[in-house]
Amino acid sequence: MKIIFYEQNADLDGWLGGLRRELPDAELRVWTPGDTAPADYAIVWRAPRELFANRPDLKAVFNLGAGVDAILDVERQQPGTLPPNAQLVRLEDTGMSQQMIEYAVYCVLRYLRRFDEYDLLQREGRWKKLEQHARESFTVGVLGLGVLGAEVARRLLALGVPVRGYSRSPKDIAGVQVYAGHEQFDTFLDTVQVLINLLPHTPDTEGILNARTFGRLARGAYVVNLARGPHLVDADLLAALDSGQIAAATLDVFHAEPLPQDHPYWTHPRVSVTPHIAAETLQRESIVQIAGKIRALARGEPISGIVDIGRGY
Ligand code: NAP
Ligand code: GLV
Repeated sequence: MKIIFYEQNADLDGWLGGLRRELPDAELRVWTPGDTAPADYAIVWRAPRELFANRPDLKAVFNLGAGVDAILDVERQQPGTLPPNAQLVRLEDTGMSQQMIEYAVYCVLRYLRRFDEYDLLQREGRWKKLEQHARESFTVGVLGLGVLGAEVARRLLALGVPVRGYSRSPKDIAGVQVYAGHEQFDTFLDTVQVLINLLPHTPDTEGILNARTFGRLARGAYVVNLARGPHLVDADLLAALDSGQIAAATLDVFHAEPLPQDHPYWTHPRVSVTPHIAAETLQRESIVQIAGKIRALARGEPISGIVDIGRGY
């Protein structure tokens, strides 16, 4: 079988070496512009349109991440780009849920115990005790209950705070109050104190973190965006921070990445920025998962993690 690989910033030796160890019979090559030679499988992250064009032979495209928005954007901009017979396959966890849990738990504890405010007080040299938030009403709402969101919601319960989750279809997660569909969105948001976003970026979810959404949360709520930059309307967040409706935000993802040097988030005292590291693609785990799926497909067996292109995730 023939496999093409594309990841612009990758440790190529590590990826190719690992894939060759797992799939010793495969002919593996790094795709470069102009390469139109046949391939059965593609393993890619943020690949250009040209990689996919005119490849009716491709059986599956493996995305080196959980979110497939970059690939689907290429298809949306130029319909028919993705090979008609190729399945699009996303990474399923591969160590990402543990990283997301760590990030989310850190944020909830930081805001619950007001460590963010103590950091600011320390900078002013002020010794001042703040009233603690009441744990029993410090409700955390997780947007998206998929591979990552469901695990995050489950593990946040250990902090003793009320946890809610929101998804498209109904879910059953012990201890988590779940809401599904547009009609339950406002009830989900009501009085939420920390809103954590783990939705995929689709036309339905773009801009979901906006003034209306912020207005439904508890006054002085916190926003944590771990999914994609376009979920958030930046101007609405800045206005909500100014008015006090939102007390603080932690942002890992942005409309433009790297975040432009003159962006107000860099210096905003109530915004914490990380450079899209909430859950990184782990090489070993990802190679094992992808190679296992390629072997299954070659045997004619079904695999999980296939993206519903119409739905967008
Ligand atoms: P997933 O398994 O596809 O789960 C998506 C969840 O969102 C599902 O529960 C789905 O509902 C729900 N959803 C989708 N559209 C919705 C809508 N319109 N209304 C309500 N709920 C909706 O995705 P995942 O693996 O958990 O990953 C989530 C996202 O995290 C990725 O798409 C990616 O953008 C982001 N991510 C970020 C990083 C980072 O480092 N910052 C790392 C990895 C992933 P159903 O269950 O009903 O289908
Ligand atoms: C990272 O952002 C991913 O989607 O895996």
